[in-house]
Amino acid sequence: MNTATLSTTTLHYVDRGSGTPVLLVHGFPLDHTMWAAQIDALASCARVIAPDLRGFGRSPLAPGDESRGVSMERYADDLAELLDALAIREPIVLVGFSMGGYILWQFVRKYPRRLRALVVCDTRAAADSDEARAGRIKMAENIAEWGSGVVGEMMGPKLFAPQSFERLPQAVAEVRGVVERTAPAAIAAAQRGMAARPDMTVLLQLIRVPTLVIVGEHDVISPPEEMQSIAAAIPGAQFVVIPDVGHMAPMENPEAFNAALVKLVADLLPAADN
Ligand code: MLT
Repeated sequence: MNTATLSTTTLHYVDRGSGTPVLLVHGFPLDHTMWAAQIDALASCARVIAPDLRGFGRSPLAPGDESRGVSMERYADDLAELLDALAIREPIVLVGFSMGGYILWQFVRKYPRRLRALVVCDTRAAADSDEARAGRIKMAENIAEWGSGVVGEMMGPKLFAPQSFERLPQAVAEVRGVVERTAPAAIAAAQRGMAARPDMTVLLQLIRVPTLVIVGEHDVISPPEEMQSIAAAIPGAQFVVIPDVGHMAPMENPEAFNAALVKLVADLLPAADN
């Protein structure tokens, strides 16, 4: 992995391939490894960049992050700083999964000129209900005592479609391992940030770049009906449902997920490059 020193933290990231930059933003409490199949598929036709967000994977938190929380805007600013550090000035394809999607909305709001296209995966544009927000704060306050494994136990059953637990034991074990290795401080910081995130639905109608909205058929965290409303609100957005999978659609059916993703990237290239 490569390392970039930013204004308030250091990000570890994968950087492979050449051509149109595609930035992959992982979910909570995960890291860049959730994108292994997408990195392999994209590296032959694009420059794919997959960071560990601050606190996750190999990237550290900054002092004060745990108690203050890391806002979705702060994560988005880190991504813009990472692009600066890589001297990437051309517009990028931004791919955000779940919490990565919450971060994507903030990037769209602050850095619209840096965007060539969007891929919005298994995420939500609405803010949390009061109950969900309270649950996040409770976790932030107790995770040091509970330990990260508890998050795996709480979230695990919701991440994959029921049939994926039998069909894909390796992917399930990998995700569980990543969750268990995530520092409680990073979990607390992200939960505080997600609890405070604003409703971004008003932004959707303002999006002017090609957008793919993609969701697992059995996603119970960001249900297909809600994702369909997101797609309907974004002018010209394409909506793809990946059959027989849950929230972790990029890992549960990488072939179908990658087909939609690679097609979007290929369609952006000038005809001669296709
Ligand atoms: C994720 O996959 O990033 C989380 O489920 C997002 C969330 O907790 O809302």
